[in-house]
Amino acid sequence: MTQTDLAFLNGQYLPKSEARISPMDRGFLFGDGIYEVIPCHHRKPIGLKRHIDRLQTNLRAIGFAPYASDEHWATIITTLAEQSRSEHCGVYLHVSRGVAAKRHHTFSKDLTPTEFAYSFEIPAPPSSSNKPHAGLKLKSQEDLRWFHCDVKVTALLGNVLHYQQAVDSGFDEALLYRPGGRVTEASASNVFCVKDGIVYTPPLSNTLLPGITRGLIIDVLQDHSQIEVKQQDLTVEDFLAADEVWLSSSTREIAPVSQIDDHLIKGGTSGPMWERVIDLFQEHKYEYA
Ligand SMILES: Cc1ncc(COP(=O)(O)O)c(C=O)c1O
Repeated sequence: MTQTDLAFLNGQYLPKSEARISPMDRGFLFGDGIYEVIPCHHRKPIGLKRHIDRLQTNLRAIGFAPYASDEHWATIITTLAEQSRSEHCGVYLHVSRGVAAKRHHTFSKDLTPTEFAYSFEIPAPPSSSNKPHAGLKLKSQEDLRWFHCDVKVTALLGNVLHYQQAVDSGFDEALLYRPGGRVTEASASNVFCVKDGIVYTPPLSNTLLPGITRGLIIDVLQDHSQIEVKQQDLTVEDFLAADEVWLSSSTREIAPVSQIDDHLIKGGTSGPMWERVIDLFQEHKYEYA
């Protein structure tokens, strides 16, 4: 077993290959659960408290009574990050409703949740001196997901199909918009654009995930720069006309976009604002632990 194969399942650390759950687990049958992905660089979790707060919020959102302390989750995350063979890893942490004797949509409140976590390697963080080789290509698609996209649920089939459709068409990710053209997010990232020196991102609502990276970018810029950030409704046309477009997520951090459909974005692989913001992000991201 390599150290990166370590997992946590229901109170025990064990090799990931030995982790087993019942097929009657409601996570398996219904996608009835929530999850987090916590990025850890140099084995230190980024935004740990924010990730745990979101996890606790999401557990409440799907009807769990409070049952585990913040320390419980922090211990699992830090243990897996410290044991990881990789300097840079993500910790995937998943809580499902648990195993029920009978498959039925409704659930008993007495089930014991299934807790599963493991770490996986992620790339070293980008910076202005460690630029991505190429910008991402996005395919715009009408957002056909449900209206609780603000909850990080394991039932990701909507996101999976949007992402797959983009990749099958030769793109890297989807740029999702609701009817009328209002952009929400990508299928596994939040979205930003830059126009005339101002950074824009869609405001939080039930149609997008309150990404931890999104929040960190906004806070770092507000606390440590004069760069203006506006959270406002944006259309696909706004993104096409932007000087730069970025995706943000725990594993990508801030990734430049070079193309949307057949339109090339001016900033391309790494625009001047991306270079400023990625360096500020690297300098200050640990302050928000
Ligand atoms: C749909 C969606 N939006 C946004 C994000 C970015 O969130 P975070 O920055 O917390 O990783 C993710 C991450 O997985 C996601 O799946």
